[in-house]
Amino acid sequence: MATLAEGCLHFVVCTWWACVHMLVLASVVHCASVPLVAQPVSNLNGICTLLVQSRGYNCQEFKVPTADGFWLGVQRISSRKFRASKGPAFLYHGLMQGGDIWVLNAAEEALGFLLVDNGYDVWLGSSRSSKFSYGHISFQRSDPEFWNWDWDDLVSQDLPSMLRFVHLQTNQLIYFVGYSQGTMTAFAAFTQNEVAGLIKKAAMLSPIAYLNHVTSPVASIVSWLFLDKVLLVAGVHQFNISDAGGKQVVNAVCQKLKKPDCYSELLSLVTGPNCCINKSLISFYDKFELQTTSMRNLAQMAQLLRTGRFGKFDYGWFRNLGHYGDFFPPAYQLSNIPRSMPIMLAHGGQDQLADEMDVRHLMLELPSVTQVLFVPQYAHGDFVLGLSARTLVYDKLLLFFANAL
Ligand SMILES: *[C@@H]1O[C@H](CO)[C@@H](O)[C@H](O)[C@H]1NC(C)=O
Ligand SMILES: *[C@@H]1O[C@H](CO)[C@@H](O)[C@H](O)[C@H]1NC(C)=O
Repeated sequence: MATLAEGCLHFVVCTWWACVHMLVLASVVHCASVPLVAQPVSNLNGICTLLVQSRGYNCQEFKVPTADGFWLGVQRISSRKFRASKGPAFLYHGLMQGGDIWVLNAAEEALGFLLVDNGYDVWLGSSRSSKFSYGHISFQRSDPEFWNWDWDDLVSQDLPSMLRFVHLQTNQLIYFVGYSQGTMTAFAAFTQNEVAGLIKKAAMLSPIAYLNHVTSPVASIVSWLFLDKVLLVAGVHQFNISDAGGKQVVNAVCQKLKKPDCYSELLSLVTGPNCCINKSLISFYDKFELQTTSMRNLAQMAQLLRTGRFGKFDYGWFRNLGHYGDFFPPAYQLSNIPRSMPIMLAHGGQDQLADEMDVRHLMLELPSVTQVLFVPQYAHGDFVLGLSARTLVYDKLLLFFANAL
C-alpha cells in the first residue's frame, strides 16, 4: 500500500503540463487501481454543514481512501475561540451509524463537542457505506460489489486508514473513543501492532467483543432465524431498514415477538430499554440513524452471536481452507493488544447488546484495562444519545484521558 500511495502522490504533485507526458506512463504503472490520496472536500450534505458549523464550531471535511477503493468520510472539529492543546481524539461509531452520532445532541451534551471544549483536536470517522462516506472508486451503491465486504474489512481497512490519516495530519498519538461495533472493530484492529502503535489511550463505550449473552430480542431472532443467510442466498446485498427488504425483516421480527407493529419500538427492542434518551428528539435522530450496511457485515455479527467467538468471517469449512488454510476462521487474539495501551470500558446494566457477562469475559482477556465504569441504569443507546451521559460517562472519560495513568 505504501508504494501505491507514493506512486499516486507523485502523480498528483506532477499533473501540471511539464510533467504530464513524463508521468502518464509512471502513473499508470503505479496507480493501476486507486488514487490513494486523502482530499479535503466541501459537501453541503456533510456532517460539517448539517451538524457542526451551525453549532458554532469550525469543521473541515475530508475523504480518506482505503486500499480496496472506498472513500471514507472524516471530519476535524475545532473551536472558534481557541487552539486545541491536548492532541487528537478520534471518535468511531457503531453498526448502521456514521460519525454524526457524536454530534447529534446539543453542543453541551454531545461528546464530539465536549472534547473540543476540553482542548482536544477532534476527528470523526465514518465507515464505508455510511451516508457520510464518499462511495467507491469504481462501484455505485446500486452495485452488488459495493456491498461485498464484512466486518473484517472494517478491521483491516477502514479503521486503520482513518487512524493513519489522523496521525499523518497531526503527528501525534491518538485518543480513541469507540462505541459498540466501533469498539469491536478497534479491539480487533489493535491486535495489530502497527495500528495499536497509533493510539495513546482508548475509551470504549458499550464495549463488545464476545456476543455470548446478547439478550436483545431482535439480534437473537435475526441470528437464530439465519435471516442473514436467507437474505444472502436471496441476493440481498445491503441491509437498509427503510427499504422493502428491511421492512420484511422488521415484520418477521415483530411477528416472532407477537407485536404486530413494533417498528416504533425498534430502538429499544434492539438496544435495551434506554433510560435517558430525549424522546422528543427521536424523529430527528431517525433522519440520521440506522444507516445502510452490508448483509455480509450483519451475517458476520450473526455468526459471532451464534458461536460466541471473536474471529474472522466463516465461509464454511471448505472455503475457509482456501481463505485461511484451516477449516475454522482464525480468532482475533485480544492478548496481542499491547499492555502499554490504557483502556477504559464503560458499560451499562440494561444494555442488551453489550451484556455484563460478555463485558466481564472481555475484561479477563484484555491485557490492560485501567478503568471500568458501570452505569446500572444505562442501555446501549444511552452511551451516545443519553441526556445524562455527560455527567455519568463523559466527565469520567475526560478524567481518564487527562490523567497520566
Ligand atoms: C434506503 O431505503 C430508502 C427507502 O427506499 C431510500 O430512500 C434510501 O435512499 C435507501 N438508502 C440507501 C443507502 O440506499
Ligand atoms: C428534549 O428535546 C426538545 C426538543 O429539542 C427540547 O425542547 C427539550 O428541552 C429537551 N429536553 C431535555 C430534558 O433536554
